[in-house]
Amino acid sequence: MKSTLELVENVERRKWYKNQYIWIIIAITLLVLTIIIITTIFLLKNKLEKNNPIHIHYTRVNTKVYPGGYELYQLNVLPQRNPAQQYKLFGDFLRVSLVNKSNYEQFLPSCPIIFALSSVDHPEEWRAMLFGTMKYPSPNMPYPYICFLSVLRDHRQYRLGSILLNRFINEMFKDTKPPITHIQLHTNWENCRAQKLYNRCGFQCNQFTANGYSKPYEPQYKFGHMIRMELDMHNIRNRSEVCLSSDAVQISPQDMTNYETLCQQNIPNGTNRTC
Ligand SMILES: *[C@@H]1O[C@H](CO)[C@@H](O)[C@H](O)[C@H]1NC(C)=O
Ligand SMILES: *[C@@H]1O[C@H](CO)[C@@H](O)[C@H](O)[C@H]1NC(C)=O
Ligand SMILES: *[C@@H]1O[C@H](CO)[C@@H](O)[C@H](O)[C@H]1NC(C)=O
Repeated sequence: MKSTLELVENVERRKWYKNQYIWIIIAITLLVLTIIIITTIFLLKNKLEKNNPIHIHYTRVNTKVYPGGYELYQLNVLPQRNPAQQYKLFGDFLRVSLVNKSNYEQFLPSCPIIFALSSVDHPEEWRAMLFGTMKYPSPNMPYPYICFLSVLRDHRQYRLGSILLNRFINEMFKDTKPPITHIQLHTNWENCRAQKLYNRCGFQCNQFTANGYSKPYEPQYKFGHMIRMELDMHNIRNRSEVCLSSDAVQISPQDMTNYETLCQQNIPNGTNRTC
């Protein structure tokens, strides 16, 4: 009697896993579960991207707190599906601090070396930014290039521009082959404030281009005249002090005369600026 029951049970158990419908149901359940898991991951990822659409990596350059309460960061823009959206943050910063209608987003992807200063009490709210590159994609610009440097108006008394330039110039002393010999930038001929800052770092004007900037340029300037400035790295006497102390760079009188001659060329007669 007992053994017969066992036999029946065994037969039924065998029947259970031989039943193809059970397996079909298991397969469908697994499939549905997989779909649910994949959908959940996808939705979560999208939600995260929505909360943080801008993929930027922030790294403190050092632990210093600069006078006025500022911290220095290097920013790395990570590859993303929508680069325009990514650069909008920086475009907005430059539109506030430079020209409010310019489309900076078209140039920014060419300038991936980014340093920025924020206030200690407002991390990731940038007060001053520098955008540069090892090489701008233009045949006339063979050297590392500073694309934009801007300090918000309310933060202009703390020499934040000097800190950013010092950091960028030091970045150019990295082991590169061949070593970097020059750094270039452009600025408006009438922007005396910027030129004073660049001069302190050892940049000198060596080219004048009448109406090199097309409108809209900054509204305080009468003309769009552009100058190119160049820093000869050989003139740097003390890297850690460059831009911060006036004797960190020394330019020979002969070189100064050459720069002046080059810069004066092509300035139309009767063109004046107030510096
Ligand atoms: C942009 O700047 C111009 C000139 O300074 C000014 O008249 C205009 O109101 C500004 N526009 C915005 C949206 O800030
Ligand atoms: C550069 O300047 C720093 C700070 O003023 C100083 O400590 C250092 O000795 C200087 N280096 C050289 C090579 O003069
Ligand atoms: C400016 O005027 C001088 C003479 O006064 C002339 O020799 C020179 O060619 C002029 N330069 C330009 C750029 O027109």
